[in-house]
Amino acid sequence: MKNHKKITPKYIGPDVSTKNRKMTKDEIKYRFNNETAELYSQKNPIWLPNFEFMFNTIVETLQLYYQSNMLILDLGAGTGNLSRKVLENLTDTNINLVDFSENMLKEVPNVLSNFKGQYSCVKDDIFHVDFEPNSYHAVISSFSIHHGRGELIYSKLYKSIYKWLKNPGIFLCCDVIEGDNPKLSKLNEDGWRHFLKLKKFSDKEINRILSNYHREDNPLSIRQHMKLLIESGFNSADFIWKKYNFGIYLGIKN
Ligand SMILES: C[S@@+](CC[C@H](N)C(=O)[O-])C[C@H]1O[C@@H](n2cnc3c(N)ncnc32)[C@H](O)[C@@H]1O
Repeated sequence: MKNHKKITPKYIGPDVSTKNRKMTKDEIKYRFNNETAELYSQKNPIWLPNFEFMFNTIVETLQLYYQSNMLILDLGAGTGNLSRKVLENLTDTNINLVDFSENMLKEVPNVLSNFKGQYSCVKDDIFHVDFEPNSYHAVISSFSIHHGRGELIYSKLYKSIYKWLKNPGIFLCCDVIEGDNPKLSKLNEDGWRHFLKLKKFSDKEINRILSNYHREDNPLSIRQHMKLLIESGFNSADFIWKKYNFGIYLGIKN
């Protein structure tokens, strides 16, 4: 707790030029290519509420859909933090990690050092990469898809995920979530502010974190995710958990 300043992201991207607008994809890539990648391998990053719970819930839900020799795709995998959690618990699983940041992917061999031969990495854009139909038993993602801009790009991604999944298959994502209207977004974000305050962040630090969030992230609401998943072909879609502006949602193909 004492050294929390040292273990939060540098957030290199947002500077004065992005004060009143969303960061572009290139700016986001630049930020992750210049970020301290190890920050994203922490088992309990101090700035994210219920982090361990979220990762555990992803694993528990995957266990419900477990098959031997499961093939999983991790979208926006970063340094492999979520993949590590899955590989620790679903032992005969193979994961393909996709991320557009070389800097983040460089850290994967360290994070997944106990799982040699059980993973591969692809450096690509999650919104443009493509795989063969029916390739994966599960597609997972943590804190990455919110970098999309607008419903159309999410819709394209969800259609692709549906295509890449085997039948049966599951898409599971934990991420930041927009409220259903601006008042609810504020209520959610006030919850996150409260959490950060309890973790002894100063008002200045909290404002910086929230201001970076507004410039870099572009989350959709629960209603939008559910609509887009069903429109993309998923037979069922649900939010299995939500707190403040964080949530876990899924789509089932069967
Ligand atoms: C906040 S980190 C989360 C990383 C990891 N999933 C985790 O939970 O630790 C967001 C990641 O998404 C990646 N990312 C953002 N936009 C992307 C895109 N369009 N294509 C591929 N990766 C992207 C970034 O490079 C970064 O590694």
